[in-house]
Amino acid sequence: AEPPPRDVFHRPLRDLRISVLDQCNLRCRYCMPEEHYTWLSKSDVLTLPELARLADVFIALGVAKIRLTGGEPLIRPDFPQIVGELAGRFGRGLRDLAVTTNGVLLAPLAQELKRAGLSRVTVSLDTLRAERFRALSRRNSHAAVIEGINALPAAGFKGTKINTVVVRDFNEDELADLIEFGRTVSAEVRFIEYMDVGGATGWNASKVVSRDEVLALLADHYGEAPRALDDERGAAPAERYALGDGTTFGLVSSTTQPFCDTCDRSRLTADGLLLTCLYSLDGLNLRQPLREGASDGELRRMVRDAWCARADRGAQERLLQSRRSAFVSLDSLRRDPH
Ligand code: GTP
Ligand code: 5AD
Ligand code: SF4
Repeated sequence: AEPPPRDVFHRPLRDLRISVLDQCNLRCRYCMPEEHYTWLSKSDVLTLPELARLADVFIALGVAKIRLTGGEPLIRPDFPQIVGELAGRFGRGLRDLAVTTNGVLLAPLAQELKRAGLSRVTVSLDTLRAERFRALSRRNSHAAVIEGINALPAAGFKGTKINTVVVRDFNEDELADLIEFGRTVSAEVRFIEYMDVGGATGWNASKVVSRDEVLALLADHYGEAPRALDDERGAAPAERYALGDGTTFGLVSSTTQPFCDTCDRSRLTADGLLLTCLYSLDGLNLRQPLREGASDGELRRMVRDAWCARADRGAQERLLQSRRSAFVSLDSLRRDPH
């Protein structure tokens, strides 16, 4: 493979997240509104061969880590085939193939996905209480998610992670319970700061429970402060910690401590747009040239050029903006016409 392209801040391209479709079987309030009438039409969504061809373009540019996401990726009927096809790239540059899922459809699929070559699973789970789950996700699938997580060790998965978005007055009283649940299924829980992203229409700063606050809540609960594990955080969004008994957990503080400086992630939307930031408002259309017969070399050049021109720092800008907004009101006082 060629050396990875570097963007204007010298950040290499190493990680690709592929959304395999935009639809979801939950409606988590921090992610999307209940009524979502503008799903992509089927013909806009990349087919399995198209998706595999674009994945190869990224692998040729040095991407070794692919994460499949959605919407909810497991809804796609050909999801096991997608995994099988991409797993065929192990040994040809690919080293890690993971999925982020809400877990609803996981239990009956876990074994098949393991056999198809999936390396790792991350499941989103914000609460252990069914009524809270229903209030957050507007659906009644809590038991299915728990069953899905429970199915992972038996299917042979290791390195499972649980993603928990911490929302004030919703689940900050369950942090220790979630860590304990994770321990029983050999999964590491990561607490994620609530982010001000597109679908999070109810977001406001007061609902963010910061990483410092999570650490304080846990120190309070366990009677000792969690110990920071000084592994290289590198480009990973999570800092890792250990409790007194050795149980580990992670903190993803994208809101209060953005990791834009080391971000090596690209994203491919279900309809084939390349986004170079989680906060991108537009993307490079790769589907069109793909369907119009572009060569591998042409597609590779398009991706390389887009990455080299990348100057995104979405989360960092969000943070600066929120700090600046305090000054704006002061400024308008000073500009009082009197
Ligand atoms: P690993 O491969 O296990 O390291 O996965 P990951 O932590 O990269 O993936 P996951 O999809 O589980 O992401 C965890 C959380 O990190 C997400 O829920 C987001 O809150 C946050 N996150 C992921 N990607 C980005 C990103 O590009 N920018 C920002 N600001 N946050 C991100
Ligand atoms: N803030 C933080 N995390 C979010 N996720 C979705 N929306 C938000 C948000 N507004 C998380 C989900 C899942 C991952 C795909 O993204 O919980 O773990
Ligand atoms: Fe679906 Fe995940 Fe968004 Fe919840 S957070 S609505 S499970 S995509």
